[in-house]
Amino acid sequence: MPFPRTRLRRLRRTGALRGLVRETRVAPADLVLPLFVHAAEGREPIAAMPGVERLSISAAVEEAGAAATLGIPAVLLFGIPAAKDEEGSGAWDDEGIVQLATRAIRAAHPGLLVATDLCLCEYTDHGHCGRLRDDGTVDNDATLDALARAALSQAAAGADLVAPSDMMDGRVGAIRAALDGDGLEDVPIMAYSAKFASAFYGPFREAAGSAPAFGDRRGYQMDPANGEEAVREALLDVEEGADLLMVKPALPCLDVIRRVKDSTRMPLAAYNVSGEYAMVKAAVAAGHVDERAIVLETLTAIRRAGADIVITYHAKDAAAWLSEA
Ligand code: PBG
Repeated sequence: MPFPRTRLRRLRRTGALRGLVRETRVAPADLVLPLFVHAAEGREPIAAMPGVERLSISAAVEEAGAAATLGIPAVLLFGIPAAKDEEGSGAWDDEGIVQLATRAIRAAHPGLLVATDLCLCEYTDHGHCGRLRDDGTVDNDATLDALARAALSQAAAGADLVAPSDMMDGRVGAIRAALDGDGLEDVPIMAYSAKFASAFYGPFREAAGSAPAFGDRRGYQMDPANGEEAVREALLDVEEGADLLMVKPALPCLDVIRRVKDSTRMPLAAYNVSGEYAMVKAAVAAGHVDERAIVLETLTAIRRAGADIVITYHAKDAAAWLSEA
């Protein structure tokens, strides 16, 4: 029945009516806060990401506690080790930075979930996400063992979820087999299934000191032009035993989030990455946009696209705004 019998504006007239028919909600319970933990004392600002810092273990414990108090159910840990080597051995050091931080946060905040980013790029001196061949390319199969070792070490330290972000083929299956073989069959894998070779990771690489020393990541991360392939990546991760999937970055990939959700029906996270955060903060600092409105609209859009979980550096601010609303 067209206009004038149908008037969609009738349900937009008041806040109460709009609330009654709202299709998508964002709650603190949907958010995950990423934390950068460094093997140093104190807090260190990250120039491109105002409000985000590199944290010592005790500062990370404080931040995790602040997140938990705001109703955020999980943190995602990234480690910045004191030293890097060619293999990235810091990734599977039982006394490594992420392992120590995981234990400390778990002990201080037992109700909070600790997810650990599982990759080698923060630990290798060349900054690539895997073992290098002599020609400088990343050797997929030789990397799987290293990732499995790192997963075991993180899970043994108490990680509630391990989150492989390396984009090697077959890594979810290799990690699942290693965990199961070690009696860690209850540790879920949150797979960065569709992770694109994106310019939006720039500020993260500054934060983690993980920019590749040569070349780029296009030999293993996905071409941003490909949506069908993203669905194939997701389906393969499901077959290999992933428990949750992830699409990354979020805002340039809202269509991919929807397609992955519709084709897998899996619990799905989207990562609102460092470059997305940096752009918002720069526009806010310049006075061009309203921060609260733009952040809440962004998170709502990512949820509307199909993400159940949003990993975002805005998590604490957003959780505070959502609880006053
Ligand atoms: C590690 C990793 C990266 C991010 C998450 N895990 C960097 C990269 O792949 O270069 C990016 C997160 C962000 O930009 O916020 N492989």
